[in-house]
Amino acid sequence: MVFDILTLFPEMFQGPFSASQIKRARERGLLEINLVNIRDYSPFKHREVDDAPFGGGGGMILRPEPIYLALEAIRERRGGKLGPVILLCPQGERFTQRLAWELAREEHLVLICGHYEGVDERVRRLATGEISIGDFVLTGGELAAMVVVDAVARLLPGVLGDERAPVTDSFAGGLLEHPHYTRPRVFQGEEVPEVLTSGHHARIARWRREESILRTLVRRPDLLSLAELTEEDRKFLRE
Ligand code: ADE
Repeated sequence: MVFDILTLFPEMFQGPFSASQIKRARERGLLEINLVNIRDYSPFKHREVDDAPFGGGGGMILRPEPIYLALEAIRERRGGKLGPVILLCPQGERFTQRLAWELAREEHLVLICGHYEGVDERVRRLATGEISIGDFVLTGGELAAMVVVDAVARLLPGVLGDERAPVTDSFAGGLLEHPHYTRPRVFQGEEVPEVLTSGHHARIARWRREESILRTLVRRPDLLSLAELTEEDRKFLRE
């Protein structure tokens, strides 16, 4: 999968994308992350990318021309076609695991990192969609783009070592994940639940399922109404 990321601060991405699984996925050719400096596409003499808002008020607003030119250059580089073009901004659709799975089906994604003070409304028209990673305001779209790339990349086949991992993790069936334990069997007086050391696979699977449901009920009851529950799960919830 190919990500083209339009940003004013490509250096922000160096650390996060050069470590751990994302680094390995890039090295193995599962993932291409191409950082595009918006300023390189400014058609203006002093490479400006923003300007004061019409109508007055403070702050600088990202102009549409450099974004347009950067997108056209990417289109040309990608053989005349662009995947979805997504603007990261607080007004976008809320990013969820479901949306991550949807985006993971694409071969190419273009992410535009919004500007701390605002983007010209016509920048939005250049995008096919807008994503927000939560109801808070960041200084720019860069951290949000990193969140989207990370969440999508780990769903691509082969990126995580364990192929099963993305299917069972939190939100996969709309539930939070069950608790995990490893050694030691007793830590500060707290023991690993007996069922997990029983070797009884069906009982372990049922215990995990029920812990998952309980945890969701306590921490995120809003998710429970949307979760895929079996008749056995519903019976457990009624008890
Ligand atoms: N840019 C600034 N805040 C943001 C947010 N919450 N999500 C996505 N992009 C942003």
